[in-house]
Amino acid sequence: MNKLSIRDIDVRGKRVLVRVDFNVPTEERAGKIQITDDTRIRESLRTINYLRENGAKAILMSHMGRPKGQRVEEYSLRPIADYLHTLINHPVAFSRDTIGIEPEEIIANMQEGDVALLENLRFQPEEEANDPKFAEALAKLGDIYVNDAFGTAHRAHASTVGITKFIKQSAMGFLMEKELKYLHEELDDPAKPFLVIMGGAKVSDKIGVLKALMEKADTILIGGAMANTFFKAQGIPIGKSRVEADKLDLANELVDLAKKRGVKLVLPVDVVETQEIRAGAPIRNTPRLSPKRGIDDGWLAVDIGSATIALFQEEIAKAKIILWNGPVGIFEIPDFAEGTFAIAEALAKSNATTIIGGGDSVTAVKQAGLAEKMTFISTGGGASLELLEGKELPGVAALTDKN
Ligand code: 3PG
Repeated sequence: MNKLSIRDIDVRGKRVLVRVDFNVPTEERAGKIQITDDTRIRESLRTINYLRENGAKAILMSHMGRPKGQRVEEYSLRPIADYLHTLINHPVAFSRDTIGIEPEEIIANMQEGDVALLENLRFQPEEEANDPKFAEALAKLGDIYVNDAFGTAHRAHASTVGITKFIKQSAMGFLMEKELKYLHEELDDPAKPFLVIMGGAKVSDKIGVLKALMEKADTILIGGAMANTFFKAQGIPIGKSRVEADKLDLANELVDLAKKRGVKLVLPVDVVETQEIRAGAPIRNTPRLSPKRGIDDGWLAVDIGSATIALFQEEIAKAKIILWNGPVGIFEIPDFAEGTFAIAEALAKSNATTIIGGGDSVTAVKQAGLAEKMTFISTGGGASLELLEGKELPGVAALTDKN
């Protein structure tokens, strides 16, 4: 990556504006906002601690949720400032305003090694509009800009793109660097065999990614509700399973493309079916699927079947590098989770480089208690998909070139 890194710049004594992605899930318990998954905050600690240890003043900025340019208290970052305080064991000054006198005064009083956090950038409509005046006012708060918000790098907003026009040096943070290493560099010229496991509900969400990965992958395993669209396209009865009926041609096109590229595209050979999506509903494993023996009327697919699990495990054991994006069943309901957890376990056991490409598969790996066993877990959702599609991320493109 030919972009300036936080390691390349002298941060001592400098006001370093860091765009982080603290868009974390929260819920209200006993009248208090609680963070239900702090991964994104923890993953920013390397950059924050590095800045503290190297005598910088770290001014953090982030968005949370989609408050649409209004101050919405439930999306305030104040609880995050308190939480970060406990993580770094150092006070985190909080500014209710993102630009102007309040943050300027807070920053003027910061010592080397101090940390401040600005309120949710999206309380200002100018953030998402990439308004140059707002970007300039943000830039005024710092000497150097660091972007560590990989999860937001696909958005061209004032704090991810606009700001770089008004500040001399814009560099990647450690998290941004790590995400680009695994989701871009490692997969650019991947070790062979390169296996992709693609799940989730809709083929239409993954067309770009599937097409791009067909240039590089040796094998692609398909699971989740998106497999139903492939089944239907091949004339396999799917009962009342979820399907994108208008995407059958697309499914066939992807099968043809795989043949043309010499990619082994593997669909489930059997599924777990039920009549109702609820915990405790009776389930059964279908026989081997074919146009003659599909899913019965009134039944729907909710997971991959046992023969498919064995087939996928075999492919996983052969791979040198594996990218997994999207669960292969409705794993949120334990009765339908066996396939997804079996994949997580097979990945945990494998000696391959294992990359979990964001979204629900990350939740599945965490629920299975296997996160520590994976080589890399992305903090990005949409950003990971766009990167895997081969798109340039505006938040990365805007950073200062190395030379
Ligand atoms: C995410 O969670 O994907 C990022 O924080 C970006 O959020 P957004 O989709 O609301 O822009």
